[in-house]
Amino acid sequence: MRAWAILLFYLILVTEVNSQRRKPRPTVVRPPKRPTPAAPEPVEPTDLPPPLPPGPPSIFPDCPRECFCPPDFPSTIYCDSRNLRKVPILPSRAHYVYLQNNFIDDLQEEAFKNATEIQWINLDNNRIKKVERKILEKMDNLTYLYLNKNQLKEVPSYLPAKLEQLCLSRNQISKIPSGVFSKMENLILLDLHHNKLSDGVFNKNTFKGLKNLIQLNLAHNIMRKMPPTVPDSLNQLFLDRNNIEDIPEGYFKELPKLSFLRLNYNQLSEKGLPKNGFNISSLLVLQLAHNKFSVVPLINSHLEHLYLNGNVIEKINGTQVCPSTFVPFDFSSTDLSIVPRLRYLRLDENQLKPPIPLDLFMCFRLLQSVVI
Ligand SMILES: *[C@@H]1O[C@H](CO)[C@@H](O)[C@H](O)[C@H]1NC(C)=O
Ligand SMILES: *[C@@H]1O[C@H](CO)[C@@H](O)[C@H](O)[C@H]1NC(C)=O
Ligand SMILES: *[C@@H]1O[C@H](CO)[C@@H](O)[C@H](O)[C@H]1NC(C)=O
Ligand SMILES: *[C@@H]1O[C@H](CO)[C@@H](O)[C@H](O)[C@H]1NC(C)=O
Repeated sequence: MRAWAILLFYLILVTEVNSQRRKPRPTVVRPPKRPTPAAPEPVEPTDLPPPLPPGPPSIFPDCPRECFCPPDFPSTIYCDSRNLRKVPILPSRAHYVYLQNNFIDDLQEEAFKNATEIQWINLDNNRIKKVERKILEKMDNLTYLYLNKNQLKEVPSYLPAKLEQLCLSRNQISKIPSGVFSKMENLILLDLHHNKLSDGVFNKNTFKGLKNLIQLNLAHNIMRKMPPTVPDSLNQLFLDRNNIEDIPEGYFKELPKLSFLRLNYNQLSEKGLPKNGFNISSLLVLQLAHNKFSVVPLINSHLEHLYLNGNVIEKINGTQVCPSTFVPFDFSSTDLSIVPRLRYLRLDENQLKPPIPLDLFMCFRLLQSVVI
């Protein structure tokens, strides 16, 4: 049986060789070979790139091998952009921890056990779904917490009281645990933009306790109404890219320090605006671009920048637009302190036809730039 097989093999081989010999070899001039595209990389079982190899040994024996511990800054640990899946065990001297741009999906208690003095942690651009209470409870000294661009579904239910900046933008947050901000007197900045916050999430007490909040960013959510109450310490309120249709009567009276208000890309029109809705004396910048205004809303004479581009304004009456404290044609008045402060005005992408009415310049004498 075996002999037969070998013989058969030889027969096939000989026939093959003969048939090749018989064929005349065509002499073809081949075009130069085009470089073939590189074969695709072998696919890993996961779609994640492998963690990067550890760097050179550190002068600090407790420096995690995945991280860089700068010799001159013993309190700083760089573990960012290393394709990490989890947080390395952090040494107790860690005060400033960079962990952004990795694939971390869970914060294990173990990693933070000794690092109780962290003041600043950047976890941006990871895959974190939840931050357990027991992890943040140990970080008494935390002042900056960056968790932008993760997969959080709610604001962490416990926040350290020393926190000054909390950045949670670009998550999928649709829930704010009640009372979570109630003791956050030190919080200055709260960034919740680009999440899934809707009107039902907010009540009168949601932001209660934020006595020193300066900036609140709620842009790019799915709100149709203004939040019922926001902290009266606010200087900057950003609500762009929601579906807000109206402003409650007297809403901004409660915000005596508000200087920057952004409401671009909403559904606002004069119908949803009380007469003095935006007549806010503290306001310096008012952005109302890409809404549905057909007339210029009443503004305060202190306002310096007004954005109304991308609305449906057809005409402007400079006399009506002029803040009423100022008499536009009174040229005898040299008192510049009462001249309306508007310096920059965007009116492009409306239905206005040039020229710009002269009485607009009569009123806003400090106007340096009008985009029409
Ligand atoms: C935490 O610190 C203690 C004492 O300094 C040390 O023995 C222990 O190994 C540390 N734990 C971790 C996980 O680094
Ligand atoms: C951390 O907080 C504790 C008490 O809250 C304080 O005694 C300590 O000095 C703080 N550490 C740093 C580095 O600020
Ligand atoms: C706008 O508000 C100011 C007070 O800040 C007030 O004096 C003025 O009368 C208001 N304008 C109008 C048209 O009501
Ligand atoms: C602008 O409004 C004022 C006051 O309402 C009015 O007297 C004037 O005629 C208007 N001007 C134009 C050009 O419509």
